[in-house]
Amino acid sequence: MSENSNWNSQAERPELEGRLQYHIRCRPGDVAETVLLPGDPDRVPKMSELWDESREIAAYREHVTHTGKIRGMDISACSTGAGGGSTASALEELAEVGAKKFIRVGTTSAIQPHIRPGDLIISSGAVRYDGTSENYVNLNYPAIADYEVVAALVEACERLGYTYHVGITATAASFFCGQNRPGFGGYRQSWFDDRYQDLRAANVLNYEMEAATVLTLSSLFKIKAGAIFAVIGNRVTDEFVYGGVEKSIEAATEAAVILHEWEQLKKENNKNYWHPSLGKDK
Ligand code: URA
Repeated sequence: MSENSNWNSQAERPELEGRLQYHIRCRPGDVAETVLLPGDPDRVPKMSELWDESREIAAYREHVTHTGKIRGMDISACSTGAGGGSTASALEELAEVGAKKFIRVGTTSAIQPHIRPGDLIISSGAVRYDGTSENYVNLNYPAIADYEVVAALVEACERLGYTYHVGITATAASFFCGQNRPGFGGYRQSWFDDRYQDLRAANVLNYEMEAATVLTLSSLFKIKAGAIFAVIGNRVTDEFVYGGVEKSIEAATEAAVILHEWEQLKKENNKNYWHPSLGKDK
């Protein structure tokens, strides 16, 4: 359905027959438990072409959803659009139709000089300047990545031989003023630079626009989540070089498979938590 003309539902949680969701236009059964979350809809087919099989489920507004299989495991990708608002709607509705694990896959600018364009960043957590997650829970609540997802992303980057960094991300509600860039006509506020310098002094690695929303809401909803980024800019060295997106997609896909293997291991060993020696002779 590409129009809203036939939409007539209750308002509190708009759904049509079969529990069709308002923003993502998916129903229960349409998406896998593991969902990759790019911001850009054009990255969804780039993800699904790596799978063994795939089909388009929906394409509505900024949300394109594909579902398929890779190495025997079910997988989906759904684009969130840019920023917290559309990301929160997508997450809500993906959870509603059965998603249980999210890996955000995006682009970012580093704010530490040693991180080069083309490198990858794995978020261990995010500073909550997203402007959306505070509508769910107060700002004292942390935006942290699930440790298994972080470990699986690290394992994936090691297997693939990619250069990666692990640390804290800053999620901004704006690409320009929220990331210490001047607005139109050189518009600035004095605190733009202070916030940027304070983030750098606190060892924050990078700026992006969705991780804090994904990580906070996922913790609230008991969903495992993590995030990986292709570095396309460095704000300290003032470089902006688009690249590395394919590496981030490959690493996230590999991590999804690794997490699936770890789920099996946990089941076989009757454990709730994965740990490095699980399934290995001690
Ligand atoms: N995404 C962002 O939010 N900021 C950048 O500088 C690059 C990608």
